[in-house]
Amino acid sequence: MGKKIYKSLPDMAKARNRVDLPVVKADEIAVPPRVAAFAQGRSYLIKTFGCQANVRDEEIMAGYLEKAGFCKANDEKSADLVIVNTCAVRENAEEKVYGEIGKFKANHLANRSFVMAVCGCMMQEEKMAEKVMATYPYVNLIFGTHNLPQLLNLLDEHLARKKDLVDVISYPGDIVENLPSIRLDPYKAFVNITYGCDKFCTYCIVPYTRGRERSRAKEEILAECKALVEEGYQEITLLGQNVNSYGKDFKDGTTFATILEEVAKLGIPRLRFMTSHPWDFDDAMLEVIGKYPNIMPFIHLPLQSGSDEILKKMGRRYSQADYLDLVRRIKEKIPGCALSTDIIVGFPNETEEDFQETLKVCEAVGYDSAFTFIYSPRKGTPAAAMVDGVSSEDKHRRFKELVSVIEKSVSAHALEMVGHTYRVLVDGPSKKNEAVLSGYTETNKLVHFQGPTYLKGHIVEVKITESHTYSLLGELCDDPLLYLAKDLSAKLHGEEASQRYFQALEAYRNDPSVAQARDALESAQRQFATSSKNGEDVSAKKKAYLEAKQHYENHPLVQNLQAAISDLKPLLEQVEAALK
Ligand code: 5AD
Ligand code: SF4
Repeated sequence: MGKKIYKSLPDMAKARNRVDLPVVKADEIAVPPRVAAFAQGRSYLIKTFGCQANVRDEEIMAGYLEKAGFCKANDEKSADLVIVNTCAVRENAEEKVYGEIGKFKANHLANRSFVMAVCGCMMQEEKMAEKVMATYPYVNLIFGTHNLPQLLNLLDEHLARKKDLVDVISYPGDIVENLPSIRLDPYKAFVNITYGCDKFCTYCIVPYTRGRERSRAKEEILAECKALVEEGYQEITLLGQNVNSYGKDFKDGTTFATILEEVAKLGIPRLRFMTSHPWDFDDAMLEVIGKYPNIMPFIHLPLQSGSDEILKKMGRRYSQADYLDLVRRIKEKIPGCALSTDIIVGFPNETEEDFQETLKVCEAVGYDSAFTFIYSPRKGTPAAAMVDGVSSEDKHRRFKELVSVIEKSVSAHALEMVGHTYRVLVDGPSKKNEAVLSGYTETNKLVHFQGPTYLKGHIVEVKITESHTYSLLGELCDDPLLYLAKDLSAKLHGEEASQRYFQALEAYRNDPSVAQARDALESAQRQFATSSKNGEDVSAKKKAYLEAKQHYENHPLVQNLQAAISDLKPLLEQVEAALK
């Protein structure tokens, strides 16, 4: 393809600015006719790296593409449109992205109309789009985290002008509601409550790639969650880089505690949230978490470092003592609450003493799980400009030591669970072994157990029999047929044919003229049956009986019920087949 067109390029200084723009609604998605024509018979594939915010963006992009008429590709080779959705949080995430883009050169060579796009956080970094375009000439479109609502228009422009386009805007722009989306999981959903981040931790690129923090309106979040409950979702995770600061930009007293409580009241079986910055965690949130049994007793609470000196350099706004005090309050208010964390080792000039402080906190807290990272300098962040005297060897040694300390508490928690029974939301067959099911406990522990695949999406009781560091083995406690019966009954009640049957039955039962016709028929039948014994006129009684029968059968409500029953027959046959 000819010349590249750079419509806009990122500017990390601009990304720091707050731009207050109104919320807009994507009520009707206009699909450009050229895109609709191109989408016919073509398939798409999105490869996502990084955090849940990126996963949610994938769902939204899939929503746009399917609206346009694309279908999901069965495999990489056959995809006609590929989007690589990138992460910039650490350098190794970027390296994986390059490998991924490289893979699709084969699609470009085999298919003249193949479209390759790259988007996400990495594209928000300065000079990145130019670098990707120069290295991979078959990349046709590059866009950023704020351009999702323009996806179809960008594709249209590319098809019309036959040029490769780069459009990465630096400021967040409007919050767009009613975005289309194809959710990747039928039972577990992510719901954004905030976008971006205002914390500007000195090592982190996220506030530049995802922009300043913006909260979604409470009504929009509640409407999305309510629809998920009605669709039968079992779990909602409220998402934000820092969910705890939800509502701070409204200045009307709405807080994270408010939205958490209101979503919990909608009756979703499991409610989770991610991520919580310790600085913003207040007691009102703990009260709400402790009050609603459907809010899961699991908190992801990034520590980053246990050293006060490093925490200060990271700009984290809390000390080791503040963090440990918060953990104490969590454990007091939410007994049995599991804690997970993120920790960075080897921040510039982290001393051995600093590192020992991190280990000390890990031992004191006893985490249930942890994501551990070696510090990775991110261009444009304040920490990247700090002189770093720590050798790579020391960083790797500390990393290993940290992992082994963390694993001790993770294994100890897992061992304590053996012999006890937990509620597990079944994800389906395990990724590693199709013959076993896997799912997560309320405290987010992975459990494998034997059971039929129709348990997928149910919350079942499992007794833990064996523990490993990162997973548990267990046995199903209840009879799986109970869940099948529950599914079938829900299916029956949800089907239009059965709803018509129940309505027809009710009308039949409550109508006095039907009752009269039925009584008359029963009485005529009795008289006909006894007439021969009593020496009465049999033919007259038979005639009266046939007339009463015809009168009853011709009653419109009886006919209505019979029609509803015959409509229901195929459904009952399906149930019978399922039970076999
Ligand atoms: N280097 C290493 N880890 C980082 N994280 C964020 N930025 C960096 C970086 N520059 C980690 C933090 C954060 C998690 C999502 O990624 O621990 O909580
Ligand atoms: Fe990055 Fe800090 Fe914001 Fe988390 S809170 S996204 S680590 S800047």
